[in-house]
Amino acid sequence: GGGGGGAAEEPAAAGGGEGAEGAVDVSDAETLFKLAFNQTEQHPQYIAAEQLGQDLYEATDGRYAIEVYANEELGTQADVVQNLSDGTVEMMYIGGPVMESFNEDFIVFNLPYMFDSQEAQAEVFADQDVVGDLYTSVEESKNITVLAGLHAGVRNVYNSKRAITEPADLEGLKIRVQQSDSQVAMIEAMGAVASPMGQGEVYSALQTGALDGAENNETVFDALKHSEVAKFYSYTRHLMIPDYLLINTGVLEDMPEEDREAFLELIPGAVEEANEGFVTFAEESRARSEEIGAEFNDDVDVEAFEESVADLVESSINNDVRQELFDAVQAANEANAG
Ligand code: GCU
Repeated sequence: GGGGGGAAEEPAAAGGGEGAEGAVDVSDAETLFKLAFNQTEQHPQYIAAEQLGQDLYEATDGRYAIEVYANEELGTQADVVQNLSDGTVEMMYIGGPVMESFNEDFIVFNLPYMFDSQEAQAEVFADQDVVGDLYTSVEESKNITVLAGLHAGVRNVYNSKRAITEPADLEGLKIRVQQSDSQVAMIEAMGAVASPMGQGEVYSALQTGALDGAENNETVFDALKHSEVAKFYSYTRHLMIPDYLLINTGVLEDMPEEDREAFLELIPGAVEEANEGFVTFAEESRARSEEIGAEFNDDVDVEAFEESVADLVESSINNDVRQELFDAVQAANEANAG
């Protein structure tokens, strides 16, 4: 690990702040990076970001820290990433599909039935030989540095009408997807009507009936109370797409080299913490949803769904860059099989 600067850390005054109890108050850091997050304070990505901010504060003797803004307080991911690109927001977590607006080749990691396991996914994102060029492409054009790809669960469909067992069951249902063409094409191939929007609007759209359903992991289903208004959750297991941790490139480059290095050294640990916390969080989320009457259906013809999107997957792998990424995913799937 980094640090080892030797300067004794003076724990800041306890109390106050938004941090976890007993945590160091980092609000007096010389530079406080705003990190935008569209989920709750209970999410393992939030907890990992808070910890990262404290570790950064300590590693840089109080020169840098992070303040996490949860619950989409700074806006939808699609809006916030524009602010990140021009530097008014320094950091954020973003869902993979939103990155397609900067470089469409990101699509490979957002296609249905791509990753077979969380392990395969982690292996791909830990390998700079695989993801390095993809990441660099948005640095040059958009001032966006991708610090890491993270596990963001397995996504399944849910709606207010019925349990889903096969593609025909989705017919006529208006389903929210993330804001990208790939996600629209995917849900339509699966048989539903697509409605792309930011995450924060989904609850009320479900409540008013403007939407019949959405597709997401158990954590969003529970934390944003979609479980109250769209209680039929069916395990289509159609997506395992990453989130990315981003920072404005200029902001990163402006850090003194030593601080930047210390910061970058902290990232893998933070990612691991978030990824490890995810599985338990998803299980707890399911249990909480069941308690209020949500119904989880495991009797799903996953093969039929996989078939419904096979053409979409194939036609999306349409250049050399995507083919290489696709091959790397397949290799990781195999290496982690069984
Ligand atoms: C997940 C993912 C988010 C994403 C959200 C969504 O929660 O972690 O990054 O924004 O889904 O569906 O919008």
